[in-house]
Amino acid sequence: MNITIRQLEIFVAVVRAESYTRAAQKIHLTQPAVSMQVKQLESQLEVVLFEQLGKKIYLTEAGSEVYHYARTVINQLQEMRTVLEEIKGLRYGKLRISVATTANYFAPTLLSTFYKRHPNVSVNLNVTNRQTLLQQLEENEVDLVIMGKPPSTMELEAEAFMENPLVIIAPPEHPLASAQEIKLSQLLSEIFLVREEGSGTRGAMERFFKTHHCKITTGMEISSDEAIKQSVKAGLGLGFLSYDAIQSELDLQQLTVLNVEHLPIRRYWYLVHRKGKRLSRFALAFKEFMIAEAPQILGKARIDGAVDIS
Ligand code: PGA
Repeated sequence: MNITIRQLEIFVAVVRAESYTRAAQKIHLTQPAVSMQVKQLESQLEVVLFEQLGKKIYLTEAGSEVYHYARTVINQLQEMRTVLEEIKGLRYGKLRISVATTANYFAPTLLSTFYKRHPNVSVNLNVTNRQTLLQQLEENEVDLVIMGKPPSTMELEAEAFMENPLVIIAPPEHPLASAQEIKLSQLLSEIFLVREEGSGTRGAMERFFKTHHCKITTGMEISSDEAIKQSVKAGLGLGFLSYDAIQSELDLQQLTVLNVEHLPIRRYWYLVHRKGKRLSRFALAFKEFMIAEAPQILGKARIDGAVDIS
């Protein structure tokens, strides 16, 4: 068996892109070159890696096994490079950070402060929802993640660094806008615009209503906090969002927070990485910076031994 790392990298790119053509675009090769490398890998390993059904390609059982090991090899190599860069004392470094869609409202401010102190670090910032963040952690594709509380079933290290209260928002002219202590039962005739499946905000909202035995009516499912706010402003329904996502609309009085019993949901932002991951010195510096300074830079209260119930 004489397989190469390049073949494994190309194979992993095809699996992730679920297509030879898209993988080729991503890694700047031609589609025939990509197919050829995968064919050579198949003939070296003496197995078929993909099967084609209609226009889609699927991993075979052998393909899934190879994918598992190929990812591990590539991630280990990446980690080796990081460790060697440390040993060589390189002044330049890369930091791969992924943040939950909602953390998009404060992550750039924090990154900009960090970047001023460490101008030699090149940051790759990816914004996506909770489900994808967990996948990226699982596959060791990121150094650090900012998200709501991760599941205890995964081998992760997670530290809460800031509050993330969730509230119900309405346009200022909504009949309940000035009501005090709104009962959940008063919301049964309202329509809620909700985030997509896989969003942490959506999960917390569903658990909240379930705990309080409240069956709400949901309207549009929208995969962006920004579009939810616009839709709430336009009178299409109520929204359930993080306080962090609505600061400027509250300041401009374009939206209001409804004063509903049992709310806000007390939720926290966590800085997360895989347990036992060798963090580069830049990643370690970012972790320490976030935990020590993030709330203060964003003008939020520090948290102490927080217990996350959501
Ligand atoms: P989301 O995550 O942006 O995917 O909803 C935020 C959270 O977990 O609170």
